[in-house]
Formats: sequence, C-alpha cells, structure tokens
Amino acid sequence: MYKITRKRYLNPSVALMKVEAPLVARAAKPGQFIVFRVDDLGERVPLTIADAEPASGEITIIFQIIGLSTRLLSEKNEGEFILDIAGPLGQPTETAGAKRVCVVGGGVGCAIAYPQAKALHSAGVYVDMLAGFRNKDIVILETEMRGQSDNLYITTDDGSYGEKGFVTAKLQSLIEGGAGYDLIIAIGPVIMMKLLCGIAKKAGIRAIVSLNPIMIDGTGMCGCCRVTVGGRTRFACVDGPDFDGHLVDFDELSRRNSVYREQEAAAMEKHVCRLTGRETANG
Ligand code: NAD
Ligand code: FES
Repeated sequence: MYKITRKRYLNPSVALMKVEAPLVARAAKPGQFIVFRVDDLGERVPLTIADAEPASGEITIIFQIIGLSTRLLSEKNEGEFILDIAGPLGQPTETAGAKRVCVVGGGVGCAIAYPQAKALHSAGVYVDMLAGFRNKDIVILETEMRGQSDNLYITTDDGSYGEKGFVTAKLQSLIEGGAGYDLIIAIGPVIMMKLLCGIAKKAGIRAIVSLNPIMIDGTGMCGCCRVTVGGRTRFACVDGPDFDGHLVDFDELSRRNSVYREQEAAAMEKHVCRLTGRETANG
C-alpha cells in the first residue's frame, strides 16, 4: 500500500499527488514511469514519474482525470492509499552530449516535460522550455518550468495567455531566429509530437519523444504497447517510452490509441463512485 501524502489540483482536470514509495523514489530517473492500480478492482495504468525525492521517499505523479481509473485515483485524498505501484519502469531519457535543448510540453504533457527540463538544467545544459495550452485557465506548472529553464515560452491556442498559437509555430520561429538547438524533446498530443519532429528534421535537429501507447503489464510481456520505430516493432514499456522522434510511426500510434475510445467512454458513463455510491456523469 502506498500512502498519498499530498494532493492538489493544478487545474480543474489535472491533479498532482505525492506518494510514499521509497524504493521507487531512490531508483527513479527522468523519463521513467510507474504502473499503478488504485484498488483490487482497478486496471493497470502507466504514469510518468514527474519527480522523485529519495530523501523523503516520495514520488510525484501528475495526471489528467480523463478515464475511469484516473477519476478513481482523483477521488483518493491525502492520508489514503493506492494499492499497487510498480516501478520505476522503462528506460531513462538519453540526452548525453546535448548542449542547447528545447523541451516542449503540450498541455498535461508539461508534467513530464518539466522534469526533463529540470534534469538538463541542473546538469548545466542550456534549456529553453516551450509550453502550449488551449487557454489561460488550464496553464499548469508555470513557476516550476520557469525555475528550471533559461527561457520559458508559453503559448495558448486562443491567445488568452502568452503568445497566441501552437507550440509548433513558436518552435519554428525560435529555430529561424537562430536558437541553435541541438536537441528537441517533445511530450504531449501525438499530432503535436509528429509536427514538432517534422520541424526538427527539416532543421537537422535531433528529436526525442515520450510515447504513451496503451499499456497493460508495463514489463514487455503483453505486447499491448507496441510501436513502430524505424520500421521495427518496439515495446514502449521496456524499449521506451522515449524514442528517436524522426523514426516513430505516429499515425499508427494514433490509430492504436483510439481503439478503445468507445469502451473508455462507456466505462465513464457507468461509473458509480465507491465512496459516495453516487453515479457520476461523464466529463
Ligand atoms: P491539448 O490538446 O490541449 O494540446 C496541448 C498543446 O499541444 C496545444 O496547446 C498546442 O500547442 C499543441 N497542439 C495540439 N494540437 C496541435 C496541432 N494539431 N498542431 C500543432 N500543435 C498542436 O493537450 P492535452 O489535452 O493537455 O493533452 C495532452 C496530451 O499529452 C494527451 O494526448 C496525453 O495523452 C499526452 N501525454 C503524454 C505523456 C507522455 O508521457 N508521452 C504524458 C502526459 C500526457
Ligand atoms: Fe505489455 Fe508493454 S505494456 S508489453
């Protein structure tokens, strides 16, 4: 059992939790993830580790309340317990040799982009951070991202905060303005990662993406998380979740990620809160 020591909402649909998991906290490296089960009826859900504090034995997870399991997790409070946490899983992010990096987060993907920026920045690498959100109301981790980058650029799709537009347009203008990046790290919606990699490729810049296919065991046994990278089948849980963005088949990943959309929506419709006994509506 893993105790929740802190819980707060970063925006109405994104929550941050600190959880006591000393063995995971000691071993975790940026880019790695856990698989959790809320309780013995819960499905296994992967979540990238947003932060790890070996001294206190806590890990931080940040998640969007988007399906039944994340909703059940969000219903847990400080002092309560998560049944299982397996981790750290996957390969740490490989950034050796990078000197000028642009770390791009899209929406809730910023929760994962932020620890990447933090690790690079503390290692003395020059880091620009580019964070895109739909609007001002859902901006998360601004202070944290600013503190762990040389420059933070925020864009919103509707222009309600920062610069108006997508992160793709901002990256293009930073590159054209002579930013001189030697690595782009992108984490967020699949379409965003695909388009960012296209821009990086044209400019001859290396790109790393963190992929989030559907996972079950998280240990390379079920084959559920397979992705095609450079024409080869790779398992995101053990070979990734980070991959060379110039080699990923993003269209296939998009298709595979939407396979269970109907079932996920149905599970949300039928959800009855185990704490209150109330049926909850979708959304
Ligand atoms: P979102 O749809 O609000 O998009 C966030 C930003 O991405 C936008 O503001 C924009 O700048 C950019 N973007 C989106 N669509 C684009 C397009 N067509 N062209 C160019 N730029 C575009 O994001 P959200 O709803 O917060 O969802 C975040 C996504 O990140 C989810 O799909 C989630 O699965 C993914 N995610 C991935 C990981 C991981 O480890 N790989 C972790 C967390 C979240
Ligand atoms: Fe089963 Fe990766 S989640 S092989």
